[in-house]
Amino acid sequence: MKKYDFPKGFLWGGATAANQIEGGYKEGNKGLNIADVLPGGKERYNILMKPGFDFEIHEDLFFYPNHEAIDFYHRYEEDIALFAEMGFKAFRLSIAWTRIFPNGDESEPNEEGLAFYDRVFDELQKYGIEPVVTISHYEMPVHLVKEYGGWRNRKVVSFFERYAKAILGRYKDKVKYWMTFNEINSGLVMPINGLGFSYQSEEDKYQPTFQAYHHQLVASAIAVKACHELIPKSKIGCMLLFAPVYAYDSNPENVMYALQEEQLFNYFCGDVQVRGEYPAFIKRYFKEHRISLEILEGDLDLLKDGTVDYIGFSYYMSRTEKKVKSDADSSEGNIIGGVRNPFLETSDWGWEIDPEGLRISLNKLYDRYQKPLFVVENGLGAYDKEEEDGSIHDDYRIDYLREHIKAMGEAIEDGVELMGYTSWGCIDMVSMSTGEFSKRYGYIYVDKHDDGSGTMKRKKKKSFYWYKDVIESNGEKL
Ligand code: BG6
Repeated sequence: MKKYDFPKGFLWGGATAANQIEGGYKEGNKGLNIADVLPGGKERYNILMKPGFDFEIHEDLFFYPNHEAIDFYHRYEEDIALFAEMGFKAFRLSIAWTRIFPNGDESEPNEEGLAFYDRVFDELQKYGIEPVVTISHYEMPVHLVKEYGGWRNRKVVSFFERYAKAILGRYKDKVKYWMTFNEINSGLVMPINGLGFSYQSEEDKYQPTFQAYHHQLVASAIAVKACHELIPKSKIGCMLLFAPVYAYDSNPENVMYALQEEQLFNYFCGDVQVRGEYPAFIKRYFKEHRISLEILEGDLDLLKDGTVDYIGFSYYMSRTEKKVKSDADSSEGNIIGGVRNPFLETSDWGWEIDPEGLRISLNKLYDRYQKPLFVVENGLGAYDKEEEDGSIHDDYRIDYLREHIKAMGEAIEDGVELMGYTSWGCIDMVSMSTGEFSKRYGYIYVDKHDDGSGTMKRKKKKSFYWYKDVIESNGEKL
């Protein structure tokens, strides 16, 4: 097999988010965040976005998988020891905003929450594992959603600034790698998670969505600037959901449509975060959708001063687009839409599997920005089966990851500067989109099931040993 040349110091590891692993949803004075009011099951977002939803917990009606999740809150030592055994160089995690500011609008942070992450970072340090911290990963305080209307409200910028400065200052000697908002562009398709509000009709979406984005982009720039000031040796990135957009065919109308979709979804946020200004293409879009942003004095300077050091992104799938779609074209399951690509197979959840798309993404992003890239999410959600002897042979996962790692190796040969790879869900956890435990990504199996049963026992899958070899050989042994 061809040998790839991953750079020395490449950050191999795994990625998680607080709300999907920690549990302990009320412990240590933690307040409620959006994930805490999300029921389990495929309908979870439809329930949340129903008009009149009260953002309360209804235990008589639903099961809430994120409340206990996989209990990382109490088991982090055991889990980190397993990551260390695999040889992780980096572990991506998020800080739950509501552990630090339970409601989001307090003036002082919650010491118990801060102390928890001190313990986690100390544990990582014990093994020489670099934490890669996402400041906000779909974990907005419910109070800010209910009382302030999410990111539409300018006040949220100051609340976020307080939160970001509290954690940057507290962990300045423990954390070097940071990212501001997880998959910041995802709010264009699913605003509740990232922007903290939802709309009921297409027409209602434009003005509030982009005003909320303006606030969030300013907040991101403030955090970047603060990070540079408080932690001079740090690196702070943006985090994009990147799915390269292919035209369905060579019809120029479809090519143009694919280009526009790519500009808006893949590049709009990144352009502001990397270049420090709004891209040219968005002016026409704003005009056509009658969007007029309220931009305060100093905002545009802030955007300029708060540009990121690297581009973190998630990669799960590509997207194929056609200007006029019929029902037969549906790519049902591909979470960000588009039409079915006849050349690609799908996962059990309908996500199209496209390793070459990762090489394409890396080339596109590097061509556009010439900044270091970091693949901070990628992986296969699959059903795993425990054999009678307790072993788990997840060869399908190994095949998926191998092909994506090869694609990164090729991109490095293409000239792309790549810092690292933290595959998603290094340990099984709650799925974001469906709230299932049975959609598993991990190298480590967790005995926890969709009905809430299970012992929480951890177990090494076949991929655990495979990934250990990959890391040990710096990507040579695939
Ligand atoms: C990303 C999110 O979009 O996809 C993660 O940042 C999420 O939070 C991951 O878990 C995989 O999605 P899912 O729905 O399979 O958990």
